[in-house]
Amino acid sequence: MGIKFYDDKKIFALSTKNTSYQMQVGKFGHLLHLYYGKRTEDTLDYLVTLYDRGFSGNPYEAGCDTTYSLDSLPQEYPSYGTGDYRMTALCMQNVEGTFSCDLRYQGYEIKNGLYETTGLPHVHTDTEDGETLYVTMTDEHIGLQVTLIYGVLEDKDVITRSVKIENKGNQELSIRKAASMAQDFLYGDYDLIHFHGRHGMERMYERNEVRHSKQEIGSRRGTSSHQHNPFVILAEKDTNEDHGNCYGYSLLYSGNYKIEAEMDQYQQTRIVAGLSDEFFDWKLQPEESFDTPQLAMCFTDKGLTDLSHKYHKLIRCNVCRGAYKEQPRPVLINNWEATYFEFTGEKIVNIAKQASELGVDMLVLDDGWFGKRDNDRSGLGDWFVNEEKMNGTLDDVVKQVNALGMKFGLWIEPEMISEDSNLYREHPDWAYIIPGRKPVRSRNQLVLDFSRPEVVDCIFNQIASVVEKTNVAYIKMDMNRHLCDVYSATMEKQNQGTILHKYTLGVYDFIERLLQKFPDILIEGCSGGGGRFDAGMLYYTPQIWCSDNTDAIERIKIQYGTSFGYPISAVGSHVSAVPNHQTGRTTEINTRGIVAMAGSFGYELDLNLITEEEKELVRQQIIDFKKYWNVIHNGEYYRLTNPFEDQEYAAWQFVNEEEVLLNIVTLATHCNPATEYVRLKGLDPQAIYHDEVSGKDYSGAALMYAGMPIPRMSNEYQGLQVYFTKK
Ligand code: DGJ
Repeated sequence: MGIKFYDDKKIFALSTKNTSYQMQVGKFGHLLHLYYGKRTEDTLDYLVTLYDRGFSGNPYEAGCDTTYSLDSLPQEYPSYGTGDYRMTALCMQNVEGTFSCDLRYQGYEIKNGLYETTGLPHVHTDTEDGETLYVTMTDEHIGLQVTLIYGVLEDKDVITRSVKIENKGNQELSIRKAASMAQDFLYGDYDLIHFHGRHGMERMYERNEVRHSKQEIGSRRGTSSHQHNPFVILAEKDTNEDHGNCYGYSLLYSGNYKIEAEMDQYQQTRIVAGLSDEFFDWKLQPEESFDTPQLAMCFTDKGLTDLSHKYHKLIRCNVCRGAYKEQPRPVLINNWEATYFEFTGEKIVNIAKQASELGVDMLVLDDGWFGKRDNDRSGLGDWFVNEEKMNGTLDDVVKQVNALGMKFGLWIEPEMISEDSNLYREHPDWAYIIPGRKPVRSRNQLVLDFSRPEVVDCIFNQIASVVEKTNVAYIKMDMNRHLCDVYSATMEKQNQGTILHKYTLGVYDFIERLLQKFPDILIEGCSGGGGRFDAGMLYYTPQIWCSDNTDAIERIKIQYGTSFGYPISAVGSHVSAVPNHQTGRTTEINTRGIVAMAGSFGYELDLNLITEEEKELVRQQIIDFKKYWNVIHNGEYYRLTNPFEDQEYAAWQFVNEEEVLLNIVTLATHCNPATEYVRLKGLDPQAIYHDEVSGKDYSGAALMYAGMPIPRMSNEYQGLQVYFTKK
């Protein structure tokens, strides 16, 4: 039983294998947070202290008792208007224009199984039984019912949270802020670890102290964004990879969001996460309801590596869906960096021919196959095949690719429209443009109003009609600009924040329909590389193109940051040409292969243009990747170095019951250098591990405690993989 209610003390205790989460209905009906951390069987109401808090507000029922103040008590879902002046999770505006909401406990329900959130990505379970707790709170004055929902996955040590808000009164209400969760810590010093970035340099690791000034990350770009990722960690000061208390918060949402952390006047930390409240004003008519996105929380006392392992398993098993959730992903070749827009059907088949000879499984035809699309200034919205460019029908090309024994994949960018397109000429009001104002262009394109179902329908029907006419095994769904000029034909009843949320719901609806109609197709997410790399998207697309930056050395940092919250199988990663198109750097094909193998692997260059020696290396890389696939995608991943601190080499490792794959890339070379050593992790100390290449045997204890010398390499950026089998 993961969820218990202690009637005498009115305590809810949620337990997973290693963690406990507790809350209590306070004496006036407020829901007070008690504890989240390492598992304990005790009830922890004694942790809450009541002292005179001087200048703080008290609920009316407290009379002259000044010790009961919501400005200092730990709360489960703090709302604005209760005398708690800290960051709120819920802010409601009433019809007369006032901002006040005071939630009191009404009742609860516990159900077997994990709850689903309709129309939004959610954690699911088919391999183990989850449980769900519903706690109902009301504000009778405004006719509001708020249900706090907790899904408990015992074996995974994960608790999911979301909130249902219902108007049970007879007047319109406005939701001005509705976070998915809030969590109060009674004491402690925490660091906020988050992942910031930019196009081409996503998910850069940063660790900052949480102090009295609020730290906020989020997005107002209409996607979760390259700039901040909706996965954060709160870690105690001494927490490192291998030990210490840390909490993960992963929001399953791909649009505007906000995550805030702050220490209050009594040194208590609060974190609030969910939809962005900026521009948000969701009108709730009587009998209407609103669901927030889900957030998956996880705690461990064993450090950041263990936290990552838990999220990797959760996302692989309980977020991703579909045929490819557990299957090996095809090794693909994508023509983007090989040709950009300059290709013909013949050239694509030529690329496929060489790739198939080297063992590649699938050819992906990227941007430029449709409408009038020879550059990025036209064609988006016209999803019909450019048969002139393709030298025939798409089916002709697909058949030739299939005849080589390869699958075929297709790029799409459904949310966008070019002004130079038939669609724009027919429906100029389908693009986000504020009437009378010139819109902001980005990559020379505008964004379609996906908050309108008829727009989603039109794009879906066009794309489905191309896909159903030929043998498409994979779709790369791209999104290449952020939203601006948000105006919808439905605007008079809504505001910008509402439309932005409906836009995200429209995107989810689009992909869900694709999945329902073509259940065997693998969809890879993409947004100018990794601009929408979040757990929400992974519910629909089990892999996401990690970054437009394919430079192996820069990718080490990008993939390091990504690995904290997301599994390796989710990371789309390709070997591209040198000098690298983004950085101009030249690295050996061996190094490029090693780095790209920490992901869902592929190539992004014309393999006809590399040397015979390199072709042999590619052939071997593909054999190796297929051999290592199980340990890479289903094994445990260890970060052995931190590329933001360690200057000499980068190392990471995969391990399962039978195999270990150690990966090293040198970052610096010196004259007469010191010997570098690497210590492995997560092995069985008693077991013997056999290095297939050198023929040497090592005990797990030796590899973990004494480590092994890294062979001296003659150039910087050389890579090495060592594969061990357990004897
Ligand atoms: C951005 C993507 O990240 C690239 O891989 C490529 O698909 C281009 N868009 C095509 O326009």
